[in-house]
Amino acid sequence: MLLNTTGPEQTGGPELAATVFDEDTIAARVAVLGREITAAYQAGDLLVLGLLKGSFIFLSDLVRRIERPLQIDFLVAASYGAETISGGAVRLLYDPETELRGKHILLVEDIVDTGRTLNRLVALLRSRAPGSLNICALLHKHVAEHLELEPAFVGFDAPPNFLVGYGLDHAENYRHLPYIASLR
Ligand code: IMP
Ligand code: MG
Repeated sequence: MLLNTTGPEQTGGPELAATVFDEDTIAARVAVLGREITAAYQAGDLLVLGLLKGSFIFLSDLVRRIERPLQIDFLVAASYGAETISGGAVRLLYDPETELRGKHILLVEDIVDTGRTLNRLVALLRSRAPGSLNICALLHKHVAEHLELEPAFVGFDAPPNFLVGYGLDHAENYRHLPYIASLR
């Protein structure tokens, strides 16, 4: 059943079930996150590091709400094509060119699910000797058994459903939706 007459059925398509977080709700929360991050980093060099592709819309809205100097870079992690690989090193398809050593790194992720992606990235980023390392996740499912580093900043606690939109995809579709919806 379609629950929102101005949502999924207009731009998303028939696979979408319901809007979970609408545009206004997301914008308000992102503004709060921006203020929290601004307050948390009083000194030093801040590098906002977006994990592609899922973080690209969230990151672009978030950085416009952070009122202090910062730099932006991205990284692309390879999953070796297997969802079930646990542990092991993460391979980067794109490695940030920006120097990480000594900087305050804020790793921006779309959603924390099992935490596998983040756990491997945290180990890798720590090996680059940043001044500090924190995670900002738009969504947190709170199902991970073990997180190397609990996100310091979280947009929303997510329901267990598979979510799309605002950067999140299903088979590369739906990333462009301005709201977050659940799949049928
Ligand atoms: P993790 O390594 O299991 O925490 O998975 C994190 C990645 O899986 C995210 O960066 C997303 O790309 C993807 N993912 C996990 N849950 C969802 C979801 O509900 N919708 C879309 N992508 C998801
Ligand atoms: Mg994905």
